[in-house]
Formats: sequence, structure tokens, C-alpha cells
Amino acid sequence: MRLQAALLLLAACVSSTWAIYPDEVDQIDFHHALLGVPSTHSTFFHRPSASSASLLYTLSEKLILGAVNPKDGSIVWRQNLTKLSLPGQGAEGFLRASDGSDAVVSAAGGYVSSWSGLDGKLVWENRFTDGPVADLELLELDDPSAAPTTRDAIVLFGDNAGSGSVRRLDGSSGGVKWEFKDDSDDIPFQVSSSPTEIFYISLQSSLLKGYKIKVTSLDVLTGRQTQQHILSSDSDVAGPESILFTGANTASPLIVWSDKSRKTLKINVLGSKRVNSVTIGNDSGEEIRSIMVHAPRQLNSLPHFLVHYETDSSSWAEVFHVDLKAATVSMAYQLPRVQEKSAFATSNKDANVYFTRITESETVVVSSASHGILGRWNHQSPLSGRALHTVSEVVTKGDAVAVRSASVLASGDWQLIRNGQTGWIRHEALAGALAATWAESADREELVHELEVEGHGSLYGAYIHRVKRHIKDLQYLPDWLRELPKRIITSFITDEVSNLNNFGVFKSIIVATENGRVFSIDSGKHGAVSWSVKAVETDKWNVKSIVAQPGTATVYADDGSSVTLNVTSGDIVARDAPSMKLNSIAVIDQESTPVVIGVKEDGTPMKPLDGPGFLITLSTDGRVVGWRADNNQSPVWEFVPSQGQKVIRATARPSHDPVASIGKVLGDRSVLYKYLNPNLALITAVGDSSATFYLLDAISGKILYASTQTGVDTSQPIASVISENWFAYSFWSDVSDTSDAKGYQLVISELYESPVPNDRGPLGSSLNYSSIYGVDMLPEPHVISQAYIIPEPISHMAVSQTRQGIATRLLLCTLPESNAIIGIPRPVLDPRRPVGRDPIPAEAEEGLFKYSPFLEFDGRWFITHARDVTGIKTVLSSPTLLESTSLIFAFGGDIFATRVTPSQAFDVLGKGFSKLQLLVTVVASGVCVVILAPMVRRKQVNALWKA
Ligand SMILES: *[C@@H]1O[C@H](CO)[C@@H](O)[C@H](O)[C@H]1NC(C)=O
Ligand SMILES: *[C@@H]1O[C@H](CO)[C@@H](O)[C@H](O)[C@H]1NC(C)=O
Ligand SMILES: *[C@@H]1O[C@H](CO)[C@@H](O)[C@H](O)[C@H]1NC(C)=O
Ligand SMILES: *[C@@H]1O[C@H](CO)[C@@H](O)[C@H](O)[C@H]1NC(C)=O
Repeated sequence: MRLQAALLLLAACVSSTWAIYPDEVDQIDFHHALLGVPSTHSTFFHRPSASSASLLYTLSEKLILGAVNPKDGSIVWRQNLTKLSLPGQGAEGFLRASDGSDAVVSAAGGYVSSWSGLDGKLVWENRFTDGPVADLELLELDDPSAAPTTRDAIVLFGDNAGSGSVRRLDGSSGGVKWEFKDDSDDIPFQVSSSPTEIFYISLQSSLLKGYKIKVTSLDVLTGRQTQQHILSSDSDVAGPESILFTGANTASPLIVWSDKSRKTLKINVLGSKRVNSVTIGNDSGEEIRSIMVHAPRQLNSLPHFLVHYETDSSSWAEVFHVDLKAATVSMAYQLPRVQEKSAFATSNKDANVYFTRITESETVVVSSASHGILGRWNHQSPLSGRALHTVSEVVTKGDAVAVRSASVLASGDWQLIRNGQTGWIRHEALAGALAATWAESADREELVHELEVEGHGSLYGAYIHRVKRHIKDLQYLPDWLRELPKRIITSFITDEVSNLNNFGVFKSIIVATENGRVFSIDSGKHGAVSWSVKAVETDKWNVKSIVAQPGTATVYADDGSSVTLNVTSGDIVARDAPSMKLNSIAVIDQESTPVVIGVKEDGTPMKPLDGPGFLITLSTDGRVVGWRADNNQSPVWEFVPSQGQKVIRATARPSHDPVASIGKVLGDRSVLYKYLNPNLALITAVGDSSATFYLLDAISGKILYASTQTGVDTSQPIASVISENWFAYSFWSDVSDTSDAKGYQLVISELYESPVPNDRGPLGSSLNYSSIYGVDMLPEPHVISQAYIIPEPISHMAVSQTRQGIATRLLLCTLPESNAIIGIPRPVLDPRRPVGRDPIPAEAEEGLFKYSPFLEFDGRWFITHARDVTGIKTVLSSPTLLESTSLIFAFGGDIFATRVTPSQAFDVLGKGFSKLQLLVTVVASGVCVVILAPMVRRKQVNALWKA
């Protein structure tokens, strides 16, 4: 308690500035700007202008469009297409670029846009409502009417329900030049172009079963149909997924499919009626699992293509040449079978076509013209998994070739390999992070256990146990003494910041992602990934929660399954099979081992609670239900919001929410006592245009306080948080009693026992109360609220946590519009700020200042500094052993972590503090004392004689 008081004093002494200093950026924080896993057909190298180096462009599976610098893997620019396309559309995205043109053109849903390749600025955009985009190509023609640097886009709209339409969009404005409507019920499949024609390919359902491929040629200038023919493929093609390849924009556009038994490959050169059949060699003794076709995407390139075959354990490829005049296809050579999976990429240099083959151990480059190997490099370190797809850039100089390839691995990593050397790795799977926690180190487990034994033993037994423990600790003494000189010396050399490791500042973070992987992120090494493992064979892992125990962490998924991993090595230690669909996971923090209880969709806990405790659950139909340990079968209470309202969120105080002081000392030295009920729950319910915030006592279900806001736009984000004796929420409100209150609002409410200072309310004199047996006795809090107009929406709220709750708390708000996270210091939001007048001296002494309805976000509150931290869904906070310091981790899109010191780092020596100088001063003073002491004594003696 005395320590707490001292810290409180210390915290009060320091001036309150909350800014992050520029020299701390990248020291105390790290940021992984992510795109999501790059998609197969929309990733490429492209040179945005003749004078600049090429960049790597991708449209990821999360529909984030981005340009990456291939040198270091940093993001040059990115755009979120989900945000821009019409809501409810989306699914598949397309990205195309054309040599000699700066623009990259993207499409997602009904949204087509063109971006400047160098800086990501929007060139044009156009929105369509008739069906999602099914394919997109850029028209490469020697068209004199088009400006040389822009390419018109050919866009195919429509979905499996039919009603396809092809539009030509102007390359500089995005306007529609012509439109071709397909009135049949065919499935619109793809568009493709040759130098003279545009081909619209659709699938016509045949009478019996299967589909015929219908190729319609369109005039480039008018969009009118010039020709149409049907390829009888109905015995082979069962749907769009049966077609292996449709080449676009090549000198020889192709369409490739195979028969159902995968014995022959059928190849048609678009525009001709001839279907070439090629027998598929099947002498591997294994079933062929997949066939992929790779062809160059450039008009002037040689008409060559590669077919890649894969069985469970091996892969090989065949290269074909097309005779354009005769519309025939012949095999040129074969790339040997290897007992590994391969990924192939096509690149061209003028007319020459190169194929790059990436296996786990090597990179091989061949020319399409002949089978001679141009370059072969063993990988410096084997790939961390198989490459799913890859893009590459081949540079030739005389006979020498160099290659760099960016491969997407099965793990979701995106890795650049330059001539066999690993360039960079981007862990794009982290963009699908669903849950995270800080790891607990294993070495403290033993001590915790020992302390527990002592805590439960008799007085005498505990004493003996403790003495024994200390004797056992003596074995470490010689080592410790031996290390001592080294530690003293290094402590003078290194600055304080790097010495914080012992205070739990650099804990690693365990993150579970939706592709079934678990990552460990080392916050001491700028967020480097120390390990990543595939924990579950799925791509849709719906992780609900991660719970850390000393040395291990357990990931709980919504199907009732769980996986426990060793946090040091990433080994899977234990696994629980799926049991039942769960709505959520409740974690009850008990002394050392957290108890985890799954909650079914109807809100019933999976297993009975044991020990003291209560649980409130939310069912999928929007009821809030309270459960108690001694009454497991039926809920103790049930809360249903008023008619027409729906519960959208229930939050409780954080499990670690220490209260440093039970009252607030006012300027006149009287005390306002805080209403500190550990069992508070804040429920958010929304109606048509209203939102109600209910404060419940979680044990009895009694409503302690409710506040209804009208004119609320419930489609905008509504965030809320509760901590200590206060809660906050934000929403968009359109109409209000006060005419100027229109916009985003942030409301803060503080709870006190009584409106009168020095009064403890109705229960003040009683020593205890029970919310179980005396619901009527449960006092209601005195609530003081204040609302602020804020400049932009808040999508998520959290509260910074420190070890003892002494340092000022920050209200952490995620701002989706400015892509930032801010920490608003609680004193700024004090609802007791005087309204309409300046504070009287007693109030000023408390730190209150005049209320103003507009709360501008101060630049110093941005804990993300100037970074663009996008897509954040969750912000976590954790205390460290230092009272001043709180750890923050944000995930959901990007990954961002930092540490904040809301009351400044009052318990850490600053970077400017020189221990050496202190030591020199102490030594110098010592020397002075030794020299001066005899002199002074002699002077005193002399003085005595003289007297
Ligand atoms: C190829 O051969 C294997 C074994 O001989 C057989 O199982 C498979 O069905 C054949 N065909 C294909 C297309 O894999
Ligand atoms: C975790 O792995 C490390 C290193 O492999 C090992 O020393 C430790 O004992 C393991 N911990 C647990 C709890 O299995
Ligand atoms: C709580 O107070 C009541 C009377 O006010 C008393 O009977 C009861 O024993 C007290 N309980 C505890 C745990 O102190
Ligand atoms: C992209 O925008 C959508 C919709 O606004 C949002 O849900 C998502 O989090 C954003 N993603 C990123 C990475 O910013």
C-alpha cells in the first residue's frame, strides 16, 4: 500500500504529456502493413513507367490492391477495394496491367477502377449494378484513336444466372464506349482478345448434361457480333471449373480443357473451329491431380505455352508451340518429372518467352524455344512450404540470365527469391488474424506453483517450505556471482530501453489466423515471426479465443475444438476434437489456471461452473442470460431488451482492472467515492434509429442505469467499453434535442456512490452486501455523463491496462477513417468539466478545464504516429511489470504493436540518463571527502587553539 501511495505521488508529480517522440517510432513500436494472400491470376511484375524499375502488383484475396517494392518487400501504395465497391458485392477481384502503360486496372463486384501504377492515385472509377464483373482484360491494339499510354478495358459482367454483357471502357475516363448484351441463358465465362478481335466465351448448357463452349467474336470498334461458333465439349465440360485455361491478350489466344478421365488435352485456338487433341502421358503410376496451363500475356510474344501436370508426389511439364496459320498445336519438349511439387511462371523479354520453375529446393529457367537450361540455382534455404503460384522476372544479358520470383507459399507467406537467395518474406496470412494474446514465459510457472503450495499450507509448513525453497535457490548463487561483473559493466554501456526485458516489456505475441495457422511474433525484434505452424487443416478456422498459460497457449475454435502449443518452439502439445458449435468462449481467470467454458448458440454454458463465479452469456437470438455456479441447469436471470431492440454487444470490465484509489479527491479535500462493482456489464441494444446502453449488475441482472440515444444511424459503428467506475460509447446521431448535436458522438459516464462528497451512499456503513439475496438493497450508482462531438467514427474501443491501475488510463479508439489508433487520456474526458464557465480555483486544482462540446483529436494522442494502420478489428492491452508502461497490440488487418506510458515513464530512467556520469560524480565526491576531511579537522583544531 505504501508503495502504491508512493507511485501515486510520483505519477502525480510528472507533467502530463502523452506524445510519442519521433525518435521512439520504430523503437517502441512495430507495424506490419499487410495486403492479404496474393491471388493467383492478379499478381504480376509491371514497370509503371519506362524510366522506373518494375514493381510487384497484386490484388489479394482480401481485395486489397497494392504495389510492393521487389527490392525489400515494402509497400509502395495500397487501396482497399472492399471499402470502395458497393456493399454486398465483391467475392472475386481482377487486376490487369499492360506494358507501356502506367495504369493498373482493377475490378471487384461491380466496381471498375484504374490506378496510377507509380503512386496509386485514382485515374478513374465506374460503378455498375448489373451483376458482378466476371472477367477483365486490357485491349492491346495498334489503335490510332487511343492515346498511346492508355489501354481500353474490356469488362465482362454477369454471373452463373446468365445475362452476360461485355463493355469496352475508355482507358482515360472509364466511360462506356460500347456494350454487347448476351440475351441467352449462357453462363458468361471470359473475354479474350487477339490483335484483331475480341472473343466473348460463354458456356451453353446442353440438353443432356455438360456445357458447350460458345465463342462469339466481337468487332473491336463497334462491339457488334461478327461471328459465332460452338465447340462441342459437352461430354467433357461439367461447368466453368472444368476449363483449364483461357488465354487472353496473347498472339494466340487459346482455350484448353481435358476430358473427364484426363486422358487427352483439348486445345482450341480461339477464332478457329478446330479442336486439337493431345494425349496426356500417364506413366508416373499415380493419378494426375491437377493440370495447369501457363502462357505469356503479351501480343508480341511467341505463341508458346506450357502445361504443368501434378500428382500427389511429383510434377512435370510439357511445352507446346502453336502454328497460327493452321491453328494446330505441337509439343516441343518436356521438362523432367521431379519428386517434388513445382510452381511455374511465365515471363517475356520482347518476343522471347521464359518459363521459371520453382521447387522447394531450386529455381530453373528455360526458354520456350528449346529445352536447354538457361539458369539453375539451388535455394540458399529451402522454402518453408510448397509454392502455390509464382510470378517471375527474367533478365538476360548475352548468355547469362538472372531471375527473381515472388512465390505464394501454402502457408500464406509471400517470398521473393533472387537467383536462389531469399530476398524477403511477407507473412500475408497475418492479415486474417482472428485472436491474439501475449505468451507467458515458462520459467515463472514453477514459482507460481511453489507460492500456491505455500499459500495453502499451514503456517509452520509454509515457513519450512519457504526456507527449503530459498536453500534450493542457493544453487544458482555461484552462477549469479560469476555473471555479476559482466552485468554491471553491460548495464553502464547499454541504455535503459534495451534493459527492459526483465520487466515483461518484450513478451512474444501468439496470433491465430483464419487459414489454420498460429504465429509467434517477437516484439523484441520488431515483430519478426519466430515461428509459424499449421495447427488445423482448414482455410476457415473460426478462432474464438487464445488463452496463455505459462509455457503454452491454447487456441479455441467455434466448433469446440482446441489446440495447445508450446510458445517457445511452436510444437503442438495437445489437441481436443471438435464437439459442438459454440457461440463464444468464456475465460474465467482464477488464481493460476484460467477456466475456459464454451457457450452454445442458445447461450447455455457447455459445462457447469465450479467454484465461486458467475457468467453472463449472449445467445444468438439476442438474449443476455446470467448463470451462477450453484445453479447450473437454468439461468438465474434473463435480460431481453425492450420491444423492437436487438442486443448487439455485451461487455464487462476487463479481467485485469485494478483500482488504485476508491475515491476521487476534490479540490476542497473532500472525497467523491467511486461506485466500484466488480460485476458490471454494459449491454448495447439497437432499435430502428435508437441505441440503448444498459448497465447491469451481472449477478442479479438488475438494471442499474440505462441511457437511450435517438436518431442513431445503426449502420454506422457503435463502440463501447467499461472499466473501473466509468464507461464510454460512441455512435452517429442525426437528430437530437439539442440542434447542434449532429455527427459522431462520444459519451462518457462516471459512476459514484453518492452525489454528495464524503458520503458513501445507502450502504456506506454496512461492511458487506449481497447482490444475490438483497437485490432491493443493491444501491444504484450516481451517474455523471458528458457527451462530446468527435470528428470521425470510432469502430472499436479498449482501455490501456497497467499493473496497479495507478497511471492514467487511456481510452484506446480505432479510427477506421484516418487509419489510426488514438489513446485519449481519461482526464480530458472528465464529465465533471465545468460547462459554460471557467473552472473555479478548486476545480482547476483538480485539473478540470472548461467543457467544450467539440473534442478535436490532438495530434499527440495518435499512438500509431503517422503510420497508416488499416483494417484493425481488435485492440488488446496488457500490463507490464512497470506500472508506467502498458503494451498495446492491434490486429484484424494490419498488425501493430506499441507500448504506451500514459503518465510518462516515471519508473524508468530516461534514455538521456548517464549512469557513467552519476558514477563519476559519486567517485569524485568520495575523493573530495577523503582529501578535504583531514584539512577540515586540522582547521577545527587550529581554531580551538586560537580561541
Ligand atoms: C494414370 O495412371 C494411374 C495408375 O496407373 C491411374 O490410377 C490413373 O487413373 C491414370 N489416369 C490419370 C488421369 O491419372
Ligand atoms: C517447449 O519447448 C522448449 C524448447 O523446445 C522446451 O525446452 C520446453 O520444455 C517446452 N515446454 C513445454 C511446456 O512443453
Ligand atoms: C455481512 O453482514 C451481515 C450483517 O450486516 C452479517 O450477518 C454477515 O455475517 C456479514 N457477512 C460477512 C461475510 O462478513
Ligand atoms: C477494407 O474495407 C472493409 C470495408 O470497409 C473493411 O471491413 C476492412 O477491414 C478493410 N480492410 C483493410 C485491410 O483495411
